[in-house]
This record gives sequence, structure tokens and C-alpha cells, in this order.
Amino acid sequence: MANPFSLEGKVALVTGANTGLGQGIAIALAEAGADIAAAGIAPPTETEAKVRALGRRFVAIEANLSSVEPIDRVLRETIDGLGDLHILVNNAGLIRRADAVDFSEKDWDDVMNVNIKGAFFMAQAAGRHMIANGGGKIVNIASMLSFQGGIRVPSYTASKSGIAGITRLLANEWASRGINVNAIAPGYMATDNTAQLRADEARSAQILDRIPAARWGTPADLGGAAVFLASSASDYVNGAILPVDGGWLAR
Ligand SMILES: NC(=O)c1ccc[n+]([C@@H]2O[C@H](COP(=O)([O-])OP(=O)(O)OC[C@H]3O[C@@H](n4cnc5c(N)ncnc54)[C@H](O)[C@@H]3O)[C@@H](O)[C@H]2O)c1
Repeated sequence: MANPFSLEGKVALVTGANTGLGQGIAIALAEAGADIAAAGIAPPTETEAKVRALGRRFVAIEANLSSVEPIDRVLRETIDGLGDLHILVNNAGLIRRADAVDFSEKDWDDVMNVNIKGAFFMAQAAGRHMIANGGGKIVNIASMLSFQGGIRVPSYTASKSGIAGITRLLANEWASRGINVNAIAPGYMATDNTAQLRADEARSAQILDRIPAARWGTPADLGGAAVFLASSASDYVNGAILPVDGGWLAR
């Protein structure tokens, strides 16, 4: 029987793949057989070396995804470089922390522009290509704050709650076109995104105390979920938000 988790012959575009969760996902997809296009503001040098060491092809695309402007080029460079596009992972994102009473318009816009606007228009561009192709896989990166309110991160909570909604909307529109749109909701993962939280001893201890798995997650912890949602193993999974959180939401 063919392996339903195999990504042999597939092309995956991962945004923000130079570091953190995006890097972990790109490596997991490459291990499952996919060639990787990595789009973002920072050069994905380390990710490229790791993907090439697995014998997969790799294309690096410089793009600031806080506006819609580079998106068509990102798609073109992926398809020109690797021949097609089957999988999009909308991972690029940022977070700003401040009390709600002090939160600035800039911290609102900077986060919303990448986390929700950029992600939607990237999905739109990929979706147009995938509809013409007869199908594809889109995996958005949500958050615990797609389910919970969080604290001191209003634009982040708005963007990640929005990503959950957009994931379901796109799944509704595109499931019948052969496109699976789903999201992964990572728990508390040790990356640059949470460096400030982990540096705060009291907050860090509170968070750890609530995680049933009793540890922060790592980028590699997302690999299985990413491969599942990118592969034909998930062909009848549409609009799901899959927590990978060491049990955080179960508490
Ligand atoms: N670390 C966690 O605990 C956690 C939890 C839930 C969700 N997430 C989400 O996972 C995703 C990856 O975050 P991470 O934890 O690896 O953090 P990270 O800061 O290490 O990575 C963020 C990535 O997004 C890219 N990026 C930021 N702004 C960009 C822009 N304008 N254009 C293009 N790329 C841009 C960065 O260059 C980087 O590659 C984000 O969407 C984040 O919100 C993280």
C-alpha cells in the first residue's frame, strides 16, 4: 500500500522558514519527501543546508509579507524554481506585548499585516493556483490564542482568532475543489516568539506548571501534524484547528 504520509514529488512553500517553527516544519516536510520554497525577510541559510542534506531541492525567496505586494512574485518564484506548488504553510508571524491600555496603533498594524492579512492573501494566491491544479493543501499556523484571550497581546490574539475563522471559511469554499485548508495551533514552544515570556521567571513557571507534558514544545514537535495536514492522509480533514500543545487546552 502506498504511504499516505509521503510527500514525494510535492512542492511546499513555507513562510518564515529561516528559524523556529517554520524551520521545524520545512525540515519535517522535506523528510517526508517534499521540495521546499522558503519565503521571508531573513535568509533561510541554516534551513537550506538541512533541507539539501536530505536530498531535497530548495528555493529561497526574499519577501516582506507585511503587504500583498510580493505575493504574486513569491508564487512565481516557487513555481519557476521547483515546477509547481502543492502545499502552502502560512507560518510567518510576529507578536507585540503591551498592556491593552497602552497598546499602540503600530503594534496593532504590524502584527495584523503579517499574521492575518499576509496569510489570507498568500492563501488566496496559492488557492487560485491549486484550484486550477485540481487541489492542494494549505496549513495555517494558529495559536492557543485562537481559543483563548491571552494577556498583553491584543493584536496577536485578534490575528490568531482571525486565522482560525479564515481557516474555516477557506475550508468551506475550497473543500469541494480538492483543497484541504486546516491549521495547527502550537502550544507554548521554545522559539524567538516566546523568548520574552521564557525570560520572565514567574510567567515561565506559571506556564510550565499548566502544561501536562511538563515541558515547552520544540519546532520538531510540529513535524508530525504538519506532514499529516500536508499529505493525502488528511484528504477528508477540512477546517480543523489541530492543537499541538502538550495538553495545554485539556487543562
Ligand atoms: N513559539 C510559540 O510558542 C508559538 C505558539 C503559537 C503560534 N506560534 C506561531 O508560529 C509562527 C512561527 O513563530 P515562531 O515561534 O517560530 O517565531 P519566530 O519569531 O522564530 O519566527 C517567525 C518567522 O516569521 C518571519 N516573519 C516575521 N515578520 C515577517 C514579515 N514581515 N515577512 C516575512 N516573514 C516574517 C520571521 O522572519 C521568522 O521566520 C508564528 O505565526 C507564530 O505566531 C508560535
